[in-house]
Formats: sequence, C-alpha cells, structure tokens
Amino acid sequence: PIPVVVDQDGGVDDALALMLLAREPLVKLHGVGAVHGNVDAYAAARNGIRALEFAGDHATPVAVGAAQPLAQPRHLSHPGDPLAAIAGKPERKPAGDGAVEQMLRLSHEHDGELCVLALGPLTNIALAVEADPGFARRVRRLVVMGGAYRVKGNVREYAEANIWHDPEAADVVLSAAFADRILVPLDVTRNATVTRMWLRWLAKDADRLRGRIAGRLLEFSVATGLPSRPLHDPLAAVILLDPSLATYHHRSMAVALRERRGTISSATDTGRPVTAVAVTADTSTLLQSLFRTLIRS
Ligand code: BDR
Ligand code: CA
Repeated sequence: PIPVVVDQDGGVDDALALMLLAREPLVKLHGVGAVHGNVDAYAAARNGIRALEFAGDHATPVAVGAAQPLAQPRHLSHPGDPLAAIAGKPERKPAGDGAVEQMLRLSHEHDGELCVLALGPLTNIALAVEADPGFARRVRRLVVMGGAYRVKGNVREYAEANIWHDPEAADVVLSAAFADRILVPLDVTRNATVTRMWLRWLAKDADRLRGRIAGRLLEFSVATGLPSRPLHDPLAAVILLDPSLATYHHRSMAVALRERRGTISSATDTGRPVTAVAVTADTSTLLQSLFRTLIRS
C-alpha cells in the first residue's frame, strides 16, 4: 500500500476524505495532522480522530499542528465546530508528537515513498519545508486541495479558503522542491457534488454517524441554496490515489501576498518549480468510492 500522511482542518468534507482513505486497501495511513482553518487545530485533531473511528481505524496517530497562520491573524471558518456537535466524544486523545514533527519523521521512515495530502491551510506543510530543506525531496507526491484558478473563490471573490487562511504558507509550499505537486482547486472540486436527494436518502440513517454527516451536508446545501453539495477534500483524496482522474495545466504558481491576498496565479518568476493544477476531473470515481465508504461501512 501507498504510505500516506494527511494534514486536515476538521471540516465535514475533511472527515469524509479521511474515512475514504482509512477504508481504502491501496493506502496505509501512517498519520494525520491537524491545522487551524475550519476549526482550531485541537478541534481539528479531535474531528480527525472521530472520522477515523467511524471508519474503524482506532490506531492511526492524529497530531495537533499549527494553531496560527505564519504571518496573519487566524480566521476560523466554522468556530462552532459543526462536526463535533453531531459526532460525540472521540475515544482517543491526540498523539504526543506535533503534526510537523510527525510529518518529518514519516518522510524519513518512508523516504521517496511518502504521499502527503493537504486538506486545510498549508501552515504545517510550510513549517516542515522550513524546518528541513530535505523534506520536500523525500516526499513522493504532494496533493493540495486549494485555490480558485480560473473561477471565483469562496471566502473572497478572488480567494479560496485553504489558501486565504495562510497565503504565506501556501506560497512557501508552491515554491518548495516537491517533485510531484498537484493542486486541486475549486475549479474541479465544485463539480464533485452529491445531490440533495442522495444526501436525504443517507440522512435517513440517522442513528449512524454517516447519516448525521449526510444531514449536515444537506443543511449546508439548503442554507446556500445549492441543489447539491461540493466534496472538495474527498476529490483531492481520490486524485492522490489516481492522478489520471484529472487533467492538468503545468504551471509555476504563486500566491498574492498583498492586494487580493490569497489569489493564486501562474508565476512570472520562471525559477519556480512546476505545479500540476487540476482543470478537469472525473468525479464519478469519487462518488463510487464514497458509496463504498458510506453505504457499506
Ligand atoms: C476547503 O475549505 C474547507 O472549508 C474545506 O474543508 C475545504 O478543504 C474548500 O475551500
Ligand atoms: Ca478542509
């Protein structure tokens, strides 16, 4: 199996991505890190533990990472923590190691093999890059959910949440020496949707966490007036396993750090390494994997 470490920020779609990977036989999850973003880093770790438990994984260590962005004040998208409200008390505590230390250790233990999936702001990944110049070269593949490439953003017209929560960190990650770096932006994740009908059907399973998660996703889609709900992070998880599910623009990418902070664009500085930016994706495979995870668990 592919050795994987996931860094996540405790959202409902983060939880679904973790559940997918925990149940995927092609993957060995060696660790999960938590970062500020949807909720604070400690709450994100607890939500990571909850998601793994529900998928039957009671062992993968979940470590708390950065509580704050590198250079700006913290903004949490969902300080009320919607997942905690529906999922009960997790049975384990977060690991003793921090998320950055855990990621660095795993990159040594699986040198040249480790795949990193970043589903939240990029603070922990940037701290690992800055702490150890060899880290990026030891990683086989980095997949990041983030950015609004040729579409409008979600937190700002010009910016997507994971990048906007820590633009400096995102810029460090886009300029680091990862040999295989894939960015999965809103352009493709917005099309990875489950419909209200599908969610309503799942939500009937109300005594199970999967039903409650479906119910929560449904509430979000009703609140936003959308007929369906995008699954940003689960799409990035399936692309990590099979990059051929997407097509890409290969570009040197940078993040705006002044006006329109958090906007991603092709960099004019040609010394920057290349990022594969997903521009189309086969979302039917995602739905099949979700179906396997949610229905048969
Ligand atoms: C991203 O922000 C978070 O709310 C989601 O979990 C996803 O990672 C989408 O912009
Ligand atoms: Ca997330």
